[in-house]
Amino acid sequence: MHIFSFSSEEELNKAGAKVVIDLLMKKPSAILGLATGQSPVGIYKQLVKAYKKGIISFQLIKTFNLDEYIGLNKEHPQSFYMFMKQRFFDHVNIPSERSYIPDGIAPDFNEECIRYDRLLNKIDLQILGIGHNGHIGFNEPGNYLSSRTHVVELTEETRIANSKYFSSLNKVPTHAITMGIGNILKAQKIVFVARGKEKAEIVFQSLFGPITTECPGSFLQLHPNLVVLLDKEAASYIDEGKIQNIETAL
Ligand code: F6R
Repeated sequence: MHIFSFSSEEELNKAGAKVVIDLLMKKPSAILGLATGQSPVGIYKQLVKAYKKGIISFQLIKTFNLDEYIGLNKEHPQSFYMFMKQRFFDHVNIPSERSYIPDGIAPDFNEECIRYDRLLNKIDLQILGIGHNGHIGFNEPGNYLSSRTHVVELTEETRIANSKYFSSLNKVPTHAITMGIGNILKAQKIVFVARGKEKAEIVFQSLFGPITTECPGSFLQLHPNLVVLLDKEAASYIDEGKIQNIETAL
């Protein structure tokens, strides 16, 4: 595990984008796992900049998003599909048929999970955020975790956290389709991003606490190639000795 912390938002985002750019330089047909939420947005912005400057092309890549709300169609302004389209897909040259995201209005959700799992190729690089309650993707804390893509009931905490994107809490869907922990851990490399004081404790628990289904993020400790990008606040519970110097490492 390599942990880095940044005093500037821009430096963090540039470091995240650099991991993606380095991969695409080596492997233009790389498969990226993508997340929604605030954590990766600045990285997407940096990637759009790099594309516009002609530094990278996304023509040959494939992307798989972690999750989608059940009940929202692609055109719904709060769907994760729309989130990705507005913040990333529309600004780069990813052919639309190469960007996969679970279908939130599939006629049969169990079938949809099976379909998504079949489509999912081995991800070269997974970009990941974490919920305040330790969820990764929408794998919520509880007594068990699922390995593969599955339907999940969102916790009240998650719905409240995500209600900022909706006009009211009761508009936030109650269920989602998410990749499972096994899908996430199979990625060749994971870039885990967190920002802000309110994430500091869960980041610490995830990286140094016991591995438990009560904190799905703790399973990241099992991954052999984990890059953690934090701002100073999110890194504030971590011993400085465990934080590496970006200049020498990336
Ligand atoms: C998003 C996802 C979630 C978010 C998490 C953090 O596709 O699967 O796990 O990464 O809820 O969200 P932000 O980044 O908004 O704090």
